[in-house]
Amino acid sequence: MDVKGKRFQDFTKRNEIIKELRGKEAREKQHSKGKLTAKERIDILLDPGTFDEIDAQAQPADAGFGTVKKVMGDGVITGHGKISGRLVFIYAQDFTVMGGSLGSVHAAKINKVQDMALKMGAPIVGLMDSGGARIQEGVMSLAGYASIFYRNVASSGVIPQISVIMGPAAGGAVYSPALTDFVFMTNKTSYMFVTGPNVVKEVLNEEVTFEDLGGAPAHAKKSGVAHFIYEDEENTLLGVQKLLSYLPSNNMEDAPQSKTNGATIGPVDKLRDIVPDDANKAYDIKDVIKLIVDGEKFLEVMENFAQNIVIGFGRLNGKTIGIVANQPKVLAGCLDINSSMKGARFVRFCDAFNIPVLTLEDVPGFLPGINQEHGGVIKHGAKLMYAYSEATIPKITVILRKSYGGAYCVMNSKRLGSDFNFAWPTAEIAVMGPEGAVAILYRKELEAAENPQQFKKEMAEKYRLEIANPYVAYEKGLIDEVIDPAVTRMKLIAAFEALENKQDLKPARKHGNIPL
Ligand code: HXC
Repeated sequence: MDVKGKRFQDFTKRNEIIKELRGKEAREKQHSKGKLTAKERIDILLDPGTFDEIDAQAQPADAGFGTVKKVMGDGVITGHGKISGRLVFIYAQDFTVMGGSLGSVHAAKINKVQDMALKMGAPIVGLMDSGGARIQEGVMSLAGYASIFYRNVASSGVIPQISVIMGPAAGGAVYSPALTDFVFMTNKTSYMFVTGPNVVKEVLNEEVTFEDLGGAPAHAKKSGVAHFIYEDEENTLLGVQKLLSYLPSNNMEDAPQSKTNGATIGPVDKLRDIVPDDANKAYDIKDVIKLIVDGEKFLEVMENFAQNIVIGFGRLNGKTIGIVANQPKVLAGCLDINSSMKGARFVRFCDAFNIPVLTLEDVPGFLPGINQEHGGVIKHGAKLMYAYSEATIPKITVILRKSYGGAYCVMNSKRLGSDFNFAWPTAEIAVMGPEGAVAILYRKELEAAENPQQFKKEMAEKYRLEIANPYVAYEKGLIDEVIDPAVTRMKLIAAFEALENKQDLKPARKHGNIPL
């Protein structure tokens, strides 16, 4: 065989080695744990036939301790492809190769796609399934992680970064997901923690399972680390596709315009009936959101965490908007530490990617309590205020009902830099709620009254009509228009259209100092 023949033979052989590496044995290993292989995951996520792999034959670095297997690809598949015809870069860790552990070459491969995604202005999706830093490579694997974190930060606010946890993510490995914009987890097969159950037992003598400590429900409900959780891997990956359909590819591009498919732009009468007559009765803000957005389609983010605020994406006349809404059904819609942080990070994401924000407001105030005060509700509430104030995107607020005290100011109020502020006739805008105000203003009269309860009720009613209404603010220009709830969707479409070319240039500075 001549040299050319040998070269082609070599080419074929090498490709066969990779095929075998990712073949039946690897598949069975993963499937037996209820997981898909790295390649199967990529195939679900990307448009068929669009994946182009790079660095498939990269060899792991030598290491002094133990055996690093010389396995082509070094436990991670990297490359690019398309989702709904749009370019994305991707890396998928392969747990069947040294537990998907991260050594220097593995990290360099991820760095390469991170760098390319940033230069090309395309989102990057990381599918993670790894035992963490490769023990044999010591500090070089730690340095590898640091090089990923560095790029996560450099790309933040430039391209969307999405982390999908599909197996273990332990130790410092959790910090790349934490630095990215959205974290997806799959129920029962993924977990994240800085120190695992064994260390918890050793140090604190506490018993906890992997699932309870760092499973998907723990991070979706308690820590707020996970933005989306799904029951299986396929639905997790379809969830990533859905999220990306709302987002621009980078901070210089517009989000994709979707067909409105005949969504109504006339009045929506049902909106008139949602807010109950009794101001203390709850309702579901998601019913309002659905009646406002195109086709009643709302992609909720962090659905299970701090449910007193609702955040997510929808479309108005085909254009993506971010929505932040108080939820009267949970804690009466009060703001607290967790809801402030949840809202703030979302507003900042939208601002970074030029996604206009709609705020739907029904908030009785900040949640009182020792835990809240000692937990730092002052600085955490300030985050939401900061996020709204610094955002230069189109910002619109609709006050549906309660809008009291500091929470009025925070929820994208006029003087905080909002562009349009609408109120429904049911709005109550004031320093505090009627009962609290009467208790302070009429303390002496209440003490002297024959029937204090009756007196309080009457005065509260008077306060509600005379002060806690939308018209005081309307007369002062702090509300631009009091609107019929039925025309909310029409008003918002027109208002966001009017704001399309908004420019809001701030003085140059290195960066502000958000109260972290
Ligand atoms: C090298 C590793 C590895 C690692 C797993 N493997 N983790 N190799 N470095 N960190 C290898 C195993 O030796 C094994 O090799 C194969 O991967 C599969 O691992 P198993 O243990 O058989 O799998 P399983 O029973 O499913 O358990 C998975 C696991 C466990 C829970 C993740 O492997 C584990 O505890 N690994 C260590 C996790 C960890 O503590 N990592 C370091 C975190 S600190 P063979 O040859 O048998 O197939 C960290 C610091 C980062 O990451 C700092 C950044 C700032």
